[in-house]
Amino acid sequence: MSRPTLLIVYYTQSGNTERMARAIAEGAEAGGVEAPLKRVEECELEDLVQADGLALGSPTYVSNVAWQVKKLIDESIELYHGKQLKDKVAGLFTSSGTERDAKDCMRMMEIALGFHLEMSLVQPGLICLNGQPEEKTGDQCQEYGRRLARELFARRRLAEKSNEDTED
Ligand SMILES: Cc1cc2nc3c(=O)[nH]c(=O)nc-3n(C[C@H](O)[C@H](O)[C@H](O)COP(=O)(O)O)c2cc1C
Repeated sequence: MSRPTLLIVYYTQSGNTERMARAIAEGAEAGGVEAPLKRVEECELEDLVQADGLALGSPTYVSNVAWQVKKLIDESIELYHGKQLKDKVAGLFTSSGTERDAKDCMRMMEIALGFHLEMSLVQPGLICLNGQPEEKTGDQCQEYGRRLARELFARRRLAEKSNEDTED
């Protein structure tokens, strides 16, 4: 059987969120899933539909997501109507100057993906502070990637079990 796919979508300007995305991908791959990376500007709605799970990352900008990320979120209203992302695993991450503002940014992503799109959030989302030691960021991101991978496999097992129960 093919490996579950965790699509990692991010925006970055100065590289911090991209480093987080790459380390999350490493952790997720180590956990056994496929973890392709995509810059948000290149992400199509169909990419979200095709993936088993999504990890969405943005730098914290003025206590919110970057507009490039918000654009994709707004476009996803098309998928909201058909509940096409409902129950898919979703991870959230942000790189920020301060923890306080990062929490606000994270809340925006939680509302969009968890409340509106009804995705299954892997909480708490990951906040890394710009300026913290690189090794700490790498470890936190890899661990979050492994958590997302475990969640994807748990979902797959649940779906298989429910199929078996229907067949009985
Ligand atoms: C336009 C802009 C707005 C920002 N707003 C905030 C903010 O509200 N709070 C904060 O703590 N950091 C803020 N920052 C700092 C970024 O969140 C931080 O540098 C982050 O690591 C950038 O990520 P990147 O390297 O992936 O672009 C801002 C940076 C920019 C360029």
